[in-house]
Amino acid sequence: MKKNFFFKRLKLFLRSKQSIYILCFLILFPLSSYAAESVNNDALIVYYSRTGKSKVVCDTIMRNYCVDTLEIKDLKDRSGAWGFMGAAFDNAFGRYTDIEPKHPGLTKYSLIILVSPIWNWKLSAPIRTFLKDNSLKNKKLVVFTTANIDIKKYDKFKDDAPFIKRFLRDYLRKSSKGMRLLAVDSGAEIISHYHVETKNITEKQIRDQTLEHFADLEIYTDLKRCNP
Ligand SMILES: Cc1cc2nc3c(=O)[nH]c(=O)nc-3n(C[C@H](O)[C@H](O)[C@H](O)COP(=O)(O)O)c2cc1C
Repeated sequence: MKKNFFFKRLKLFLRSKQSIYILCFLILFPLSSYAAESVNNDALIVYYSRTGKSKVVCDTIMRNYCVDTLEIKDLKDRSGAWGFMGAAFDNAFGRYTDIEPKHPGLTKYSLIILVSPIWNWKLSAPIRTFLKDNSLKNKKLVVFTTANIDIKKYDKFKDDAPFIKRFLRDYLRKSSKGMRLLAVDSGAEIISHYHVETKNITEKQIRDQTLEHFADLEIYTDLKRCNP
């Protein structure tokens, strides 16, 4: 008798509107709390990659921190030898390019992680264009660059090093000052710059070099690993 009464009440409850609300709450609440734990909702990686190496850096960051990503596409054809020469020409003369998306929505992000190849010792033209066309006011900025060589190595040369090494060191210091100014002009607060060397280097080595920067990255940002 008691059992019948219980099932009748249960049936009535399941047919009612309230039961739907309660069930939705029970299903969605754990999901939303999981998402809040595992995703860095206020961080965005903005990347450009001509031949895929910077994309590996971006992918490594994304897999570990589950951040949103935005690919900047260059509307100029940069493929092959002509594409390479066009890119070198544009960067040598500080020319900008046409990018897509031109003005992505960045409002919800407080941390931007920029990933760019180095072209002629400067940030690539698509990323320079992104910085010129978009305000990063009040946003923190972390920059990852990739290039054939380890540009940070040159900074370590002392004043008694051979002329050519000192020349390269000073040239690179000047270029990185230029990159810094570009980021400052966009209104961002620059947090750190990490570099990944890519010439004759496997995809795994690119990933490993990127991972080496993570401990430092976590000290300076609020990023939380989603796949520890
Ligand atoms: C136009 C152009 C200029 C480059 N200039 C440099 C340079 O000044 N120094 C350097 O070490 N690598 C230079 N590189 C090599 C790239 O920075 C390097 O291969 C980078 O990792 C490529 O990244 P991506 O595959 O994401 O396009 C240049 C590449 C291009 C296309």
